[in-house]
Amino acid sequence: MSQGFESTDNTLQADGVALARIAAVCGTPCYVYSSGQLDRNVERLKTALRRALPASNQPLIAFACKANSNLGVLNHLAGLGLGADVVSGGELVRAQAAGIDPARIVFSGVGKSDEDIEYAIRAHVAQINIESAPELERVVAIAQQLGITARVAFRLNPDVDAQTHAKITTGKEDNKFGLPAEVITPLYRQAAHTSFIDVQGLSVHIGSQLTTLAPFREAFSKIASFARQLAAEGLPLRSLDLGGGLGIVYDREQAPCLDGYAELIRELISPLGVKIILEPGRLLVGDAGLLLARVTYIKKTKTRQYMVLDAGMNDLVRPALYEAWHEIRPVVDSAAPPEMYDVVGPVCETGDTFARDRALPPLLAGDLLAIMNAGAYGFAMASRYNTRPLPAEVMTRNGHFRVIRHRENIRDILEEEAIPAW
Ligand code: LLP
Repeated sequence: MSQGFESTDNTLQADGVALARIAAVCGTPCYVYSSGQLDRNVERLKTALRRALPASNQPLIAFACKANSNLGVLNHLAGLGLGADVVSGGELVRAQAAGIDPARIVFSGVGKSDEDIEYAIRAHVAQINIESAPELERVVAIAQQLGITARVAFRLNPDVDAQTHAKITTGKEDNKFGLPAEVITPLYRQAAHTSFIDVQGLSVHIGSQLTTLAPFREAFSKIASFARQLAAEGLPLRSLDLGGGLGIVYDREQAPCLDGYAELIRELISPLGVKIILEPGRLLVGDAGLLLARVTYIKKTKTRQYMVLDAGMNDLVRPALYEAWHEIRPVVDSAAPPEMYDVVGPVCETGDTFARDRALPPLLAGDLLAIMNAGAYGFAMASRYNTRPLPAEVMTRNGHFRVIRHRENIRDILEEEAIPAW
């Protein structure tokens, strides 16, 4: 039985399930996640970490739920032993509902609300990553009011250029995230002596879709030397959270070598003898998901040939938002000579374009295609723009598939609204 997305008998399959079958039952657009590929991705990361680090100091892999927070996906990853990195009360509730122990959940984010903080403290999450002085004040006040100890860590802004897209760079001095070391030190000292606060250590996350290890080396070196400085001042240090950011191959970029990444942790972080936390998102789910869509029309103009899909930027916003490149594959292989298409959605914006000048075999209205590598930040960023119901989500395993999110219908959307009876 094939695992992941592979063509068999000229048609694209997910864990041995023909995508055409899924489309026939669930309709399109539809996200399809391969549990076989999820397994492989987690195993690949764990193998690299096992090779580099002693069994006694294997990191907690806290999956960044923002990349894909479907309950079915989270539950699958929980079954593989993963924890979670959450950035809202909603994600925390999801992670718990998926069966993830709060002791394996870290709470990140620059704008946590009072409700979110209270919920996280009551849930006894592993740590709340503090991103500002006023946030620490809130956490202290809420913990003391509840009489429950809050575990916290401080997010370092290491001023490192992640060399990725500007919109997903988070570790530069002028990004809104984290705090510089000189601001953390007095806060850390203060927190270490505050009742109902239990300081765990530091966290860092410099950006997403990193394709080289150099920025990780720089960030890990900085956090390690800062950790040493804190320890030398007698401040407690139990954990270092190294964030996420490992990139995947969408087009012709190189993916960072996982053994090299694990080796960096061994070299720079292991000697500190603290618990290590990682927050990978994209690496684990990116290539385990695709967006299955159907061609609605082929439209030819004087200068261009458009392939209009039934999926749009509301379903997958990455190309519109980050000029992201996604491979597009016809579900049925074709040997016909390719033609040039602009692959677009039905949404009323020119930005609703998945690809320009893409060479694809000639397709007709009704044909299926797959937008690949859509498992991370795909459905998670989907919206109902243009009153388009959210797409369905399906998971596959060993020749079977299950719907893990039903397609919305217009009625679902309208039910949430009201005409005021003044
Ligand atoms: N930890 C923190 C604190 C984060 O902010 C993020 C991602 C991660 C972990 C996971 O990063 P990853 O391993 O997935 O690179 N929507 C964008 C990506 C936004 C990333 C936001 N933060 C995209 O579609 O490319």
